[in-house]
Amino acid sequence: MERKIITTGDGSKTIQLVDWNEQYHSIHGAIQEAKHVFLTNFLKFKQQSEQCTIFEMGFGTGLNAFLTSQVAKEKELKVKYHSLEAYPVQLSEIKELNYREILQDSLDEFTQLHTSKWDEPTLINPFFQLKKIQQTLEVWENRENYYDFIFYDAFGPRVQPHLWTTAIFEKIYSVTKCGGVFLTYCAKGQVRRDLESVGYKISRLPGPPGKREMLMGVKPIK
Ligand SMILES: C[S@@+](CC[C@H](N)C(=O)[O-])C[C@H]1O[C@@H](n2cnc3c(N)ncnc32)[C@H](O)[C@@H]1O
Repeated sequence: MERKIITTGDGSKTIQLVDWNEQYHSIHGAIQEAKHVFLTNFLKFKQQSEQCTIFEMGFGTGLNAFLTSQVAKEKELKVKYHSLEAYPVQLSEIKELNYREILQDSLDEFTQLHTSKWDEPTLINPFFQLKKIQQTLEVWENRENYYDFIFYDAFGPRVQPHLWTTAIFEKIYSVTKCGGVFLTYCAKGQVRRDLESVGYKISRLPGPPGKREMLMGVKPIK
């Protein structure tokens, strides 16, 4: 599939899958979208606890992981971050992205995120532990009630409908802690209804620039 590096509305780059007309991030702003959908809501809804566990669906360019590692360090929050990726991005493409420059990554933690070993927990900074898991979501499994946050960042249902089914959401729901929070940029009505049908209490939140809404789900405390 043809892949292109493009510049988005806020000046940050992303990868475009030309045949699917789909991007790793919003064309209105890659960094802006990642901060709005995941980081702002993470900071808003996190509980006071020793350590926070996050599951990300789709490591991709590592942008969400990078922003989370920076926030963890800045706010001194201990984060254990598990990120699933079936088709890792080539290092040659990663080098073309401009997140390091924009986000002033003097310690080059962005490169460390990418060169860390798959399937092994790695401390990127004293507050952020990353485990990249190379597997498809369809076969991945984890302990129930494990994650405080789910960053659901799969390609959209238009191009990968099999990653937006109730069977997949049941799996994600079971690994979410009671009181845990599910976040996605997607606001499709069918996705909202399917997330509700597996048990999440769903709210529509204002979306990032270029998108009216996004979804947040909470797994009720029994
Ligand atoms: C929207 S991109 C993720 C963007 C990423 N969060 C970032 O910050 O750059 C979706 C990712 O899901 C991965 N993916 C696609 N199908 C998958 C599957 N079945 N299981 C696991 N990962 C998959 C893709 O390779 C891609 O990296």
